[in-house]
Amino acid sequence: MTEKPDPMTVPFGTVFCDWMATAHSENGVYQYGGAVEAYGDFSLSPAAHALHYASAVFEGLKAHWQDDGSLAIFRLDDHVARMRQSAEQLRLPVPDTTTLRQMIVDSVEANVGEVPPAPGSLYIRPTIIGTEPNIGAAATPSSEALLFIVNCPVGDYFKGGVRPLTLLIEEEIPRTTPQFGMVKSGANYAMALAPTLDAMAQNSAVDQILFATGGDITETGAANFFLADNERVLTRQLDSSFLHGVTRSSVLALAADLGYEVDERPIALSELKEWAGRGEAFLSGTAAVLSPVGTILGGDSDIVFGDGQPGPNTLRLRESLVAIQNGRSDDLHGWRTTVNS
Ligand code: PLP
Ligand code: COI
Repeated sequence: MTEKPDPMTVPFGTVFCDWMATAHSENGVYQYGGAVEAYGDFSLSPAAHALHYASAVFEGLKAHWQDDGSLAIFRLDDHVARMRQSAEQLRLPVPDTTTLRQMIVDSVEANVGEVPPAPGSLYIRPTIIGTEPNIGAAATPSSEALLFIVNCPVGDYFKGGVRPLTLLIEEEIPRTTPQFGMVKSGANYAMALAPTLDAMAQNSAVDQILFATGGDITETGAANFFLADNERVLTRQLDSSFLHGVTRSSVLALAADLGYEVDERPIALSELKEWAGRGEAFLSGTAAVLSPVGTILGGDSDIVFGDGQPGPNTLRLRESLVAIQNGRSDDLHGWRTTVNS
């Protein structure tokens, strides 16, 4: 077998582990045999529902080596719960919590030998696709589905490690429809692609598009958006228009633990200039971790936060998050699931 490339130097999500877990649904119940199988291609009907009507949902979570030599999945139960909610929204068969949880743990245990050391991690991608072979089923759900879990050894999502990102504001086109933003479905990413590519074509230095329809900030294409200063941490309040990030909720909890005042409310683009003069901005996400934002382009004029470099509050919150993910601090919130002890 040819040797796999170093996951720390190739693009995020392009190296795949040797083992995966799969389960087909039968009468709405996923049949998991209890054993992983070799990573490989599927056979799928050309009429499969997902291929025509986008009945597909996914999750993204990570397992990290701990300082004590064990491996722990970060916030497994929260990702399982969100995937069940996404499946329900697309009227796909909803996996029961125990089966989905077990399949994720089994895939990680099978691939333990491929998990890179920190700052690398194992990215876990559970996915459900509608498999009913029926191209007439545009307005009916897929009666059958395939649930699969694949894993990737990963390094940084944003090339260049922890560095100030550049965002570009998109005020006209929303990332997705307002009621669907909270669903982790491939269709949302497909919808965001054209506006993202069009905006990025204006400036090759742009890392992410900041969606802010009519001046109301929601999120970027792959992460949630935060503002912070020495006293406060601010992010949008939960509504159906954007993905309810598990990292977002972790950052809010850790910020409160560190003594910050935590504020969840609408954020207007018009507020950014004032924040940039005295505060910081960052993104949160499983892939993005906690990434500083240096510059936001678009709008009336470009906005540079501070001196354009990562701010102290951003770095403090990032360290607090990474320490809990890597087992360097106590798991006060019960977020770690140890898989190999
Ligand atoms: N928003 C979008 C559009 C995303 O793709 C992600 C990544 O999963 C997030 C936010 C952050 O979510 P989480 O922290 O659960 O990974
Ligand atoms: C994640 O952070 O898990 C995501 O789904 C982002 C993805 C675009 C890589």
